[in-house]
Amino acid sequence: MRLENKVAVVTGASSGMGHAIVELFAREGAKVVAVARRKERLEELAASLADAPGEVAVYPGDISSREVNEGMIDFAVKQFGTLDILVNNAGIMDDMSPVGDATDEKYEQVMAVNVYGPLAAMRAAVNAFKASGTKGSIVNVASVGGMRSCAGAIYCASKAALISLTKNTAYMYMADGIRTNCIAPGGIVTEIATSMGVPNPAGYGRIKPVLDCAPAPGSAEEIAAAALFLASDEASYVNGAVLPVDGGWIAG
Ligand SMILES: NC(=O)c1ccc[n+]([C@@H]2O[C@H](COP(=O)([O-])OP(=O)(O)OC[C@H]3O[C@@H](n4cnc5c(N)ncnc54)[C@H](OP(=O)(O)O)[C@@H]3O)[C@@H](O)[C@H]2O)c1
Repeated sequence: MRLENKVAVVTGASSGMGHAIVELFAREGAKVVAVARRKERLEELAASLADAPGEVAVYPGDISSREVNEGMIDFAVKQFGTLDILVNNAGIMDDMSPVGDATDEKYEQVMAVNVYGPLAAMRAAVNAFKASGTKGSIVNVASVGGMRSCAGAIYCASKAALISLTKNTAYMYMADGIRTNCIAPGGIVTEIATSMGVPNPAGYGRIKPVLDCAPAPGSAEEIAAAALFLASDEASYVNGAVLPVDGGWIAG
């Protein structure tokens, strides 16, 4: 097993990629704290993995809150004795608006979940790693939208910020043996579209030709496989990387 005796916190675990990451990590022997707002979904996930070699504990909460980010890291340490891995996966879309139509409300909402949450979680995690001398691993889930314009202004800005936070954290803590990497998924079949609402027609019209260049969508399991590699000791010399998992979309 590739994560035996490792303790992980995974956000956005109630659906899509986060759900698949918790499943794979638990099957690879990890003790996992599963975080999202929908408690019943987390409990169903934990119950479905009762026979897995690892263990799943649930921590319901909204990751745009400082208390939840700090609480989930403290909970992992209290529940399982340490922390080795943080996966900042939870995220929401904007409505594909160009900057001229981008609202302050949408900015605050998307930045709180896609940028502030990961920042607060990374802060708590690196301080926990340093307190215990753990050579921890952080995996952030950004997007190809942080590298090219395939969503609205606010979403793309939020994911570019997360890529920047990844590289900065990788560099700042490399002497401590703490690794921070990032996955940039392309189009993946999940529930993400439900966070978009009605797309802005002008923005969607500009983005449609970019979406038309994408290959067939990938699966949440394909993202989980990348997260497993980056989180595990197999990636011991990978730090500050941005790994597109997009079927070649941004290669074009
Ligand atoms: N699907 C794609 O094509 C795609 C492409 C590129 C990047 N991504 C990124 O991949 C990540 C995972 O998304 P997904 O596609 O798997 O979407 P998803 O199926 O909608 O899952 C999103 C997860 O985030 C959680 N979440 C959302 N807001 C939250 C909050 N305030 N507090 C705590 N948890 C919250 C949701 O749980 P609750 O609602 O229960 O809180 C859910 O578990 C996101 O960061 C997304 O931006 C997705």
